[in-house]
Formats: sequence, C-alpha cells, structure tokens
Amino acid sequence: MARHPAPRHLVVGGAGYVGSHLVAELLSRGEDVTVFDDLSTGHAAAILPGAHFVRASLADQAAVDAVLADGPWHAVFHFAALSLVGDSMREPLRYLRRNIGEGLTLIDSCVRHGVKRFVLSSTAALFGTAGDGPISESTPIDPGSPYGESKWALERALAWTSRIHGLRYAALRYFNAAGADAQGRLGEDHAPETHLIPLTIDAALGRRPPLTVFGADYATPDGTAIRDYVHVTDLATAHLAALALLEKDRDAVFNLGTGSGNSVREVIAAVERVSGRPVPHTLGPRRAGDPPVLVAASDAIAAATGWSPRFRTLDEIVATALAWRQAHPRGYDDAMPDSRAS
Ligand code: UFG
Repeated sequence: MARHPAPRHLVVGGAGYVGSHLVAELLSRGEDVTVFDDLSTGHAAAILPGAHFVRASLADQAAVDAVLADGPWHAVFHFAALSLVGDSMREPLRYLRRNIGEGLTLIDSCVRHGVKRFVLSSTAALFGTAGDGPISESTPIDPGSPYGESKWALERALAWTSRIHGLRYAALRYFNAAGADAQGRLGEDHAPETHLIPLTIDAALGRRPPLTVFGADYATPDGTAIRDYVHVTDLATAHLAALALLEKDRDAVFNLGTGSGNSVREVIAAVERVSGRPVPHTLGPRRAGDPPVLVAASDAIAAATGWSPRFRTLDEIVATALAWRQAHPRGYDDAMPDSRAS
C-alpha cells in the first residue's frame, strides 16, 4: 500500500502570514499539507491542526534534501524569505544572499527530486519606479530595492528551470497583503511589526504610540503613498488558481491585487470608520525604497483562471484585521499561554 496516497503539498514558510493562510485553504479542500519552517519569523500556533510540520531552515541543505526526498510532492510553495523593503535598503547583501541563496537551494533540490510544480511568493517590489498607472505583467521590471531584486532573481531562475528541467512555476507578485482569516484562526503577527494596517489599528486601540505617516509630500491626491491592499485569503485562493495552470503544464506569472489603490490617509480613515476610534498620527519623512504608487492590474489572472478577490473594499479587509488584533492583543502569543508567563 502506498504510504502517501493523496497528492502532497509542501509549504515552505507555511507558518508565516501568507503561507499559513494558504495552508488553511489547502486543508479546507482536503489536501495533504506539510509545512517546512524554521519559525524564525513564523509561529507554531499558525500551523493549523491537520498539517504536518518539519521544523528546519532553508540554510540547512541536508534538511531541505531530506524533506524533498520524502516525496513525491505534487507542488512546492515557497514563502520563506526576508520581506521588508526598508530593511533591504539598509542590509542589501543580507537580503540578496539569503533570499537568492536559499531560494536557489530549494529550487535545486526540487529539480533533483523530480518536483513538477513550484509556486513562488513574488512581489510588487519588482516595479519600483513603474509610475502611477495600474501595473500589469508587461510593465517593465525595475526593482526599487534589494528585496525586489532578490525576488526577480528567483523568478528568472525559475524561468530557466522550467525551460531546461520542466519544473513548471508560478510567480505571484503580491501587492500589499492585508487582513486576516475570516474564521479568526490566523492573522498578521510580525516582530517587529512594520506594516501599515496593523500599526494603524494598534494606534487606534491605544496599544502603540501614534502612527507615523511616512511622507506626506508625494505627488498623489492627498500627498501620501498609495498601495493596493489585497486580502490574504484572496492571495491564498490565487495560489490554487495558479496551481491549476501548472497542472496543465503551463507557467503562470501574475500580479495579484484588487486593482484599486488606497493612500495612507485613506487607510487611517478606514480604520477610524471600522473601529469607531480616532487614529493618533504624526507626519514624518519618507521611508527609503518606498515607491509613491503601487496598484496592480490584476486582469491577467482573472482572464486565465477566473480568480477574483472576494474582499473588495478596504473596510472589509480592515474589519478582519481588526477582529484578529482585538481577539489576539499579543498575536500568536495568546495561543501559547506559557510563552510570556513571567
Ligand atoms: N507606512 C507608513 N507608516 C508606517 C508603516 C507604513 O506611512 O508606520 C506606509 C509606507 O510608507 C507605505 C504604506 O504605508 O507607503 C505601506 O507600507 P507597508 O510597510 O505596510 O508595506 P510596503 O508597501 O512597504 O511593503 C509590502 C510588503 C513587501 C511588498 C510590498 C509590495 O511588506 O514585502 O508590500 O507592495 F514588497
């Protein structure tokens, strides 16, 4: 009898923010899921019951080979990376070395172990200076940060391994992942937290100091930077839509957003509406590496797969994030009562 009769999915970085929401979607569809994560930024409590778990690092080649050898894997999803644009502007070589080196370790092991489908978490940060219009897959690539550069390097590596080794790949360029699992099981918990929506919510709840708006002198209607906030569960379902293309032996490179942008001031207003509380905030200088506007044209994935975001408004997205922050004031530490017992 086969030891693993169901198709098996390996989710590298599956204890992190976006990865854990993909695991939730896979489990809800009855799939067999293994999370590979070193918990350096992910959380054990974000690995839902039903998923298998291998605690190891992508820096550990033997551990990577061991899990790939324990196949066959129907698909490998790669979420594990350093992902802060601002940090990458301070530590470019750390970002390039870690993200490219560890990504290549994983891709190489997939090729050697006969994996046929690979899904990469890519980023809107490929389009650093794209201008103000919606960004499509044909918009010229021009990373504005070493973080974006590292993801572009992995996209190129995958294009070559698809062509030469037949490892079909999807590169999904997330715009701004936001929100939380609608069932309240999962949410956003970074340490330190640098993302706009959780910081804005915490400022409204009085749990953090006032928000600093990074730049109010951009050439945008209200002077603050514009991003395309897309719900994290919608990102997860997009992975499954892209996987269906890989199963037809096609590669899939898509920009993933809602197609509409919101400024920092609009995010503040949404949090005030949804929470019913004011958001204390001050105006500060721009953050290095931040483009003024990043909004996706997400028609391509819609046309190819029928995917579209279920969470269409900023208020809906903020509501799920607020529910998570209110239920978990200390993030996943609330799920592990001993971890801050003193
Ligand atoms: N911002 C503030 N104050 C804060 C934090 C953020 O004004 O305290 C602003 C930023 O300057 C930016 C916007 O809010 O204009 C969103 O910032 P985030 O830090 O939430 O997200 P980023 O746009 O910097 O980056 C995120 C991911 C990246 C990804 C990028 C793609 O962290 O991995 O989206 O758009 F590449």
